[in-house]
Amino acid sequence: MSINYKELADKYQTPFYAYDFDHITQQYTELKEAFRARKSLLAYAVKANSNLSVVKHLAEQGAGADCVSIGEVKRALKVGIAPYKIIFSGVGKIDDEIRQALELDILMINVESEAELDRVEVIAKELGKEARISVRVNPNIDPKTHPYISTGLHENKFGVDIDTAKRMYIKCKNSENLDAIGIHCHIGSQLTELEPIKESINIVADLVRNLKAIKMEISFFDVGGGLGIVYDDETLIDTKEYGQVIMEALFGLDITVVCEPGRFLVGNSGTFITKVLYEKINGDKRFVIVDGAMNDLIRPSLYNAYHKIEVLEKSENASDCNLVGPVCESGDFFAKNIELPATEHNDLVAIYSAGAYCFTMASNYNTRGKVAEIAIENGKDRLIRKREIFEDLIALEEEYIK
Ligand code: LLP
Repeated sequence: MSINYKELADKYQTPFYAYDFDHITQQYTELKEAFRARKSLLAYAVKANSNLSVVKHLAEQGAGADCVSIGEVKRALKVGIAPYKIIFSGVGKIDDEIRQALELDILMINVESEAELDRVEVIAKELGKEARISVRVNPNIDPKTHPYISTGLHENKFGVDIDTAKRMYIKCKNSENLDAIGIHCHIGSQLTELEPIKESINIVADLVRNLKAIKMEISFFDVGGGLGIVYDDETLIDTKEYGQVIMEALFGLDITVVCEPGRFLVGNSGTFITKVLYEKINGDKRFVIVDGAMNDLIRPSLYNAYHKIEVLEKSENASDCNLVGPVCESGDFFAKNIELPATEHNDLVAIYSAGAYCFTMASNYNTRGKVAEIAIENGKDRLIRKREIFEDLIALEEEYIK
């Protein structure tokens, strides 16, 4: 579907994010279909885009939620995701978060260390509960993605090795307050190769068989998230093949598949629209300065990530430039050394594949309000988050001025 960004810019001002909700539906349906042969739960990784309307839209398709803070758990509950579809992951859960997760009776807490398992046991005991948990296994597989978003190697902080995982399951078996219902692994994000996923899932499936041999039945096999999307010209993992690889690994096991996609569901649905303020030349270098900045969309600055960029309705006189924002950092850029047409004040620039890890990683640096978010569904647009104004930014400080 083609979206008229110019009309949206006139109506909502810039910068803003626009999300194509119909595309999100398509992505959800495609992945769910890949798991058709089994009971499955797609637990949307809320961190990718936690706007309540986005999460609600996925909830309406049947999605659960993979959360990494109690705040995310509350977002999921707020839009009607049932507790039994919510998973709480993360290497550093705070006691109070564990307590709340147990009280809220979510599906399972995904535990990432022995020390954390001890804490969960203590807290569950205090509450007189049996905590449903899964253990995150780190299979020591190189996912072949950017090092910052790679998580499945022992050098990364995530999960535990197989031997530790075994000890943790035995501990659960002997504990009145721990019920190990799941197993989990997630090796990284923006994955474009199936082989590392296959290897790690097979390692984890073997562990499930070993546990079965000692009469520990695991009901949920969580394959993590990580499916890549198109930013540039990537060849993506075929979701049917992905499903097949998982089904094969789980052959003979009576187990529900859980998958935690974030980027795959929302990444390509989003576009960031920003407006040209000025052009300038410093020495030989041409700069195009826009009203959006690294505080709105940090992926290029943080990971040197590539996002496809276009000046809307212009193609003439393209030349090399850096596309930068108003923030006072040399690292404030959307792209370096790209060819863009000659621009004028108020021309619109589209930055694509901006539905995941863009708004959610935004900050208020330089006292810049977070931008508006807009949903497009069935050809209609609607605001799903207001642009922040100055009063929002000072609201929690104002009363303390002496
Ligand atoms: N499950 C777990 C345990 C995760 O750590 C993550 C992402 C996901 C699921 C979802 O992964 P996805 O399907 O979205 O690839 N800020 C980075 C990405 C960080 C990913 C963190 N974990 C970026 O902008 O690329």
